[in-house]
Amino acid sequence: MVASDSPLGAAAGVEIMKKGGNAVDAAVAVGFANAVVYPEAGNIGGGGYMVIHMADGRDAAIDYREVAPLAASRNMYVDANGKLTNKSIVGPTASGVPGAVAGMVEALAKYGTMSLADVLAPAIRYAEEGFILDSAFARSIVSNRKNYEPYNGGALFLRDGTPIPAGTLLKQPALAATLRAIVAQGRDGFYKGAIAEKWTNELHSRGGIITMEDLARYKPVWRDVIKSSYRGYSLLTMPPSSSGGVTITETLNILEGYPQLPPFGSTQWAHLLGSAYQRAFIDRNEKLADPAFVNVPIAQLTDKTYAARLRATIGSDHATPTSLVTKAIREGNETTHYSVVDSKGNAVATTTTLNELYGSGVYLSSAGFFLNDEMDDFAAQPGTPNMFGLVQGEANAIQPGKRMLSAMSPTIVLDRDGSLLLVVGSRGGPRIITSTSQVILNVLDYHMTLADAMSAPRLHHQALPDSVYFETDGIRPEVADSLRAMGYGVNRKAIGQVNAIMRVKGRGYEGVNDPRSSGRAVGY
Ligand code: DON
Repeated sequence: MVASDSPLGAAAGVEIMKKGGNAVDAAVAVGFANAVVYPEAGNIGGGGYMVIHMADGRDAAIDYREVAPLAASRNMYVDANGKLTNKSIVGPTASGVPGAVAGMVEALAKYGTMSLADVLAPAIRYAEEGFILDSAFARSIVSNRKNYEPYNGGALFLRDGTPIPAGTLLKQPALAATLRAIVAQGRDGFYKGAIAEKWTNELHSRGGIITMEDLARYKPVWRDVIKSSYRGYSLLTMPPSSSGGVTITETLNILEGYPQLPPFGSTQWAHLLGSAYQRAFIDRNEKLADPAFVNVPIAQLTDKTYAARLRATIGSDHATPTSLVTKAIREGNETTHYSVVDSKGNAVATTTTLNELYGSGVYLSSAGFFLNDEMDDFAAQPGTPNMFGLVQGEANAIQPGKRMLSAMSPTIVLDRDGSLLLVVGSRGGPRIITSTSQVILNVLDYHMTLADAMSAPRLHHQALPDSVYFETDGIRPEVADSLRAMGYGVNRKAIGQVNAIMRVKGRGYEGVNDPRSSGRAVGY
C-alpha cells in the first residue's frame, strides 16, 4: 500500500512492490517519481526525512535535509537598513544544498533490495515518455505562476505564455537525463561531474551561490529514531534537524496526563490541544536546531516529568498568553508526505520538500528540476517571523553547512503489542506537526476509522502568532465564542495534507490520502 499526494507517484511504488521490492525500494521509487509527476513538492532539488520500521524489528531514520551553502552568512537576507528581504523565499539565493538524491540513494543501499535502475524506472518512464497532466496539476501551475515565472519555471509550464492545460502530455527530457546519470553513477551522477557542473553554472549565471564544493561535501545522516510511548502505544519519530519528532512527543506527553481527552470538537478539546501545542512550540522555536551546531536538549524535552510541569501551567478555563507561558517554563517549518507498507510489514514514512510550492521558483533547464527555498526555514533574522509566521531564535540562525530546522514529521506508530499500526505524516510547514499528531490522536483516543481521522477538522497553535487556528467550518460557532471568552485569538487557516496507512485487525491495511489533497492511496 502507498498513500501519496500524487496518484502516479503512488502507482510507481506499487509497481516496484509487485516486482518484489520492499517498502524502502518502493519509497525511493515514489520519491523519484514524484520529482517528475508532482514537481510542486516532489523533488530532487530539495530534501527530506525518512523513518523506517522493518518487520524484523530494525528501526532507522535518515536525515537528508538541505544545508546552508558555504557562502551563506547570518545576515545574508537582511538589507542595509536592517530590513528582512524576501530573498530567502524566492530566487537564486533561497536554496540550501539539495539532499534528496543523496538521501534516497543511501536509504536504498542500506535497506532496499533493488538496484537504482529498478527503482528509478517508473520515474524515467514518466519523464521520457511523458504523463498526462491532471486537473489538480494544471490548477497548481496556474495558481503558482507568480512564484516560478520570474525564475525560468515558464520553460517547463508555459507554452506561448499560457499555462499548459489539463490533458497535456508533459515530457521532461532534461530531467530524464539527470535521472539516467543517477542510475549510472549513483549520487555522483547528481553531485559531481557533467550534470552538476551544468546546473551549478546555470545557477551561478543567475546569481546563485551553491558550488561544486558544496555538492561534494553534502552528506545525509543516519540518526537514532526518537522512540516514545503514548498510552501504551509506541511512536517512532524523526529527531532534529527536524523539530517534528520532539514537538509531537512533547505534545502527546502533555496530553497523556489527562486520563481521557474531552469530546472531539468541544471547547475543552480545543483548549487542551491548543495549549499543549502552544507549549511544545515555544520550546521548538527557541531550542531546536541542527544538533551538529547547537546542543539540543532532546532528553529533557521528551521527558514525561517535564511534560507534567508544562501541563500544570494549563488553566482549566482560560488561555495563557504565549509570553506568560514562556516565562513560566523558562528555567534558570512545499512539502509532500508518503507512506508505504509492503506485504511483509516493512514500513516507511517519508516527508520531502522544496519548502514553498515549486521551491524558490528557480527552474534549472540544464538538469530539469526546481531548486528549494529552504533557507527561509532558518531564522533569517532571529525574532522576525518567517514565511510560516514562525518566530524562531538564535539557535536556528544561518551558518554555513548547517541544516535549517524543519517541522517535517514522518511517524510510525506501533500497537500495544509492538506490531505496526500506523504510518503517517503531512505537508504544511509548522502545521505538519499539528496535523500529523491529530490523526494519531483521532485514532488512538477517539477510536476513529482512518478515513474519519483524516477528514476530521483540525486545529493549530504554534505559540506565535498567539492564536488558535481552525479550518474553514472546522469548529462550531459557539465553541469559537467560548474560546474567545477564554482569551484565545481564534483564526482560520488550511491545516495540513496527510497521507497515512493503518493496519486494520483481520483486514490488512487501509491507506488514505487526505481529502484536502488530490492524491491517492494505491494497494494490491
Ligand atoms: O521543513 C519544513 O518544515 C518546511 N520546509 C515544510 C514546508 C511545507 O510543508 C510547505 N507545505 N505546505
